[in-house]
Amino acid sequence: MCGIVGYVGSKEARSILLEGLQTLEYRGYDSAGVAVIQAGGIEVKKRAGRVADLAKELEGSTLSGTCGISHTRWATHGGVTNANAHPHTDEAREVAVVHNGVIENHAALRTTLEKEGVEFASETDTEVIAMLAARALRKVRTAKEATVAISKMVSKLTGTYGLLILSKKFPDTIFAARLGSPLLLGIAKHGYLVASDATAVSAHTDQVIYIEDGDVLAVNPKGYQFLKTERNHSVEQIEKVEMSEGLGKFTHYMQKEMYEQPASITSALRGHILKNEAIPRLSGMNITDEQAGQIDRIIFTACGTSYHAALVAEYWLEEIAGLPVEVEYASELRYRKSPVGDNTLVVAISQSGETADTLAALRELKRQGKLVRALVNVVGSSIAREAGGGLYLHAGPEIGVASTKAFTSQLAVLFLLTTYFARIRGVSKAKGKELLKELQNIPVHVKKALTYEHEIETIAERYQDVHTMLYLGRGTNYPVALEGALKLKEVSYIHAEGYPAAEMKHGPIALVDKETPSVIINPRSALYDKVMSNLEEIKARNGPVIAIATEGDRAIAKKADQVIYVPDVPDIFQPFVTVIPLQLLSYHAALARGCDVDKPRNLAKSVTVE
Ligand code: M6R
Repeated sequence: MCGIVGYVGSKEARSILLEGLQTLEYRGYDSAGVAVIQAGGIEVKKRAGRVADLAKELEGSTLSGTCGISHTRWATHGGVTNANAHPHTDEAREVAVVHNGVIENHAALRTTLEKEGVEFASETDTEVIAMLAARALRKVRTAKEATVAISKMVSKLTGTYGLLILSKKFPDTIFAARLGSPLLLGIAKHGYLVASDATAVSAHTDQVIYIEDGDVLAVNPKGYQFLKTERNHSVEQIEKVEMSEGLGKFTHYMQKEMYEQPASITSALRGHILKNEAIPRLSGMNITDEQAGQIDRIIFTACGTSYHAALVAEYWLEEIAGLPVEVEYASELRYRKSPVGDNTLVVAISQSGETADTLAALRELKRQGKLVRALVNVVGSSIAREAGGGLYLHAGPEIGVASTKAFTSQLAVLFLLTTYFARIRGVSKAKGKELLKELQNIPVHVKKALTYEHEIETIAERYQDVHTMLYLGRGTNYPVALEGALKLKEVSYIHAEGYPAAEMKHGPIALVDKETPSVIINPRSALYDKVMSNLEEIKARNGPVIAIATEGDRAIAKKADQVIYVPDVPDIFQPFVTVIPLQLLSYHAALARGCDVDKPRNLAKSVTVE
């Protein structure tokens, strides 16, 4: 997590850095800070709070200069305080450092430095880097020598870093180094930007160089110099990232993104379904039909909401394509000694394309020589670039920390994958066409599901003070229950548990009482009567029930305390519509409780630390 951006060029750095930080705030928003080289040395301004608070503080300041670095923090080491905010400097303020990542051996390094008499001002791992960098740069005379010294200095660090360093000795230079945390160089007409991701540079340029692990470089207004010149650091063109579209008629990004879902699902399908064809075109996967025919197992690996999308696909691929699937948390898979056969396809799923665990799992499986692909939203992200192929979600930027439209776009792309494998494995042309036709109708049903917002708001207000909620579903609605519970927890801070509906009698039913509502996802399906029995079991214990049911189902309304209707869609497509009321419920519960829906406490949009 954490966002970093540096600028050196002919313009004032301050406003470029603040604008960049605003676009990176989704990576963390505990504190923000800037350092700029001025005539008198390095000037640092930093504080706990949002980028907007820092901007306000800077309004009256004289901070000025054309070379600077900045940071927006998601706290790892040390609390959310002014002192722990980046940039960090050495005691004499010879250098300033911003860092994204985690230095695992910081305690040992700190102890060694303390023995030499160094006094630290913060509890962060990053301050250790500032101290080491200052010492490493003491004797160097040229920027080239400085990159060599920084390379030696970072070799002492264990962990991950995207680093920007300013040195008083080189007033027009930013030094950068990367290992495990994303960093790119933006080449603008008026100068250079070095940032955690393309969103921070896209207002200035679409020309970037992706900085690779192990790279160290120096950037000044005239150009850039990589230490490892033998590497191919080619300039790439990025898609314009529209971060400034604003909220339009909406109050929050989460709300806007929920309403974008009919369009984002359409966008995910675009170009993959050709008229009169019964098999989707997935050329980005970079797998031939012959290779696909050999695949006898898929492992999906992901975190959070992306993991839940994969769980839905497990039902789809096994039922429709007859292909065995496993879904693994990336944080577990990366360290597991799990045998992966030569005919297994590994698919990493990630909205951001930067999730550290997912990236690490992908790298590990690649290292083992496995066939690894990815489903990613952010174009040019690390996972997208490191997988041997894959599909983009084309959902547009998702800014709300709670993932909404990325989930339904992931489902759309996963359903394409399911239909592809179903056809490859012998499912008829007629069935393939039918599946794709139904899939293309989904945006209309999602739009209809969103029209129940007002009723959902009333229900959310009714239950806003509860301490715990259960989310129960079966079949493909079980992962939707998990996703509903995750959404509620992260934005409203109400504890919630997702469970397979029938499993609740093996433990969670002990939680049921008149203060603990259960959301029971039970649209009409082959399992309808079974889930109705689970609903009765909860009612028998005085538990309030909010049912998610198919439009027109009056029977369920007689049993449940509240009903939220969803459009009638074939069983296998239900997750697309049943997740919508759960997103809206969490959104309205959060609003009713006065929570910051777009920036929930303790979270960050992109989890780039382990
Ligand atoms: O960017 P990714 O899809 O890899 O992110 C994975 C999770 O961090 C993410 O889904 C997280 O759980 C969301 N905040 C959930 O709304």
